[in-house]
Amino acid sequence: MDLGIRGRTAIVCASSQGLGKGCARALAEAGVALVINGRNRALLEQTADEIRQGTGVEVTPVIADVSTPEGQAALLTACPTPDILVNNNGGPPFRDFRELDRQAMLTGVTMNMVSPIELIQKVIGPMAARGFGRIVNITSISVKMPVAGLDLSSGARAGLTAFVAGVARKFADKNVTINNLLPGSFDTQRLRAAFLAASRQTGKPEATFASAAMADIPARRSGTPEEFGYPCAFMCSVHAAYLTGQNILLDGGAYPAAF
Ligand SMILES: NC(=O)c1ccc[n+]([C@@H]2O[C@H](COP(=O)([O-])OP(=O)(O)OC[C@H]3O[C@@H](n4cnc5c(N)ncnc54)[C@H](OP(=O)(O)O)[C@@H]3O)[C@@H](O)[C@H]2O)c1
Repeated sequence: MDLGIRGRTAIVCASSQGLGKGCARALAEAGVALVINGRNRALLEQTADEIRQGTGVEVTPVIADVSTPEGQAALLTACPTPDILVNNNGGPPFRDFRELDRQAMLTGVTMNMVSPIELIQKVIGPMAARGFGRIVNITSISVKMPVAGLDLSSGARAGLTAFVAGVARKFADKNVTINNLLPGSFDTQRLRAAFLAASRQTGKPEATFASAAMADIPARRSGTPEEFGYPCAFMCSVHAAYLTGQNILLDGGAYPAAF
């Protein structure tokens, strides 16, 4: 399917690896020129080269912390009026909620709620003026069901979800859409780090935790970054103009409900 977005521009935040990279790669395959982002220069430049060579699109790497005003300014300097914005960031570490002090909570809310809203504020006006815009926020299955140790992530992302529910409706008549993509378990560095941390805490092998996690997923496996990226690219396509304000779960059937 031709997604109809060849020649468009996108900022894909936090995209040197994992789910953000999956989205960047899929958009590049659809012909979208990219700004990609991360804090580790070597990894980001390697990803930029890989996407450029694999797809032939223009890829601009911006080394910046997307949670900071300076980082956001650097992204918007590289691409002042993107047609597409994929909001992504690291997630807060696994913690018992009683261990979170005020600063940790503010940091988590800044990363996963305030920063994506700030970027949306900056790009949505020009998108509406041009009559095309696609915004996808990478959130989490934890918005819909609790995940042990991720209460801060759940709360911050639920805040973002509720915030953009109203904003999305305000811009629907301008062909600007805002949707949230909710990953369940995807095979990325973050998921592998979680199994490693559990292994270190308990002395049990990482594989024990990986198998227990997969047993709870009807698909019996984790997803791949590609399986995340292509649905994201579709949501950014011309064909998805009537899809807005939605929360789309990608979880191999893990969320156990009809609705
Ligand atoms: N994987 C899953 O199963 C899963 C499930 C639910 C939710 N999520 C959420 O989805 C998001 C992406 O997860 P992932 O699994 O793709 O993680 P990942 O594999 O660890 O990749 C994270 C990416 O974000 C970049 N990054 C992190 N903090 C950043 C910052 N402050 N500024 C700019 N770039 C930053 C990292 O590069 P640098 O470190 O070099 O900056 C890296 O490119 C996270 O918020 C995660 O909590 C993931």
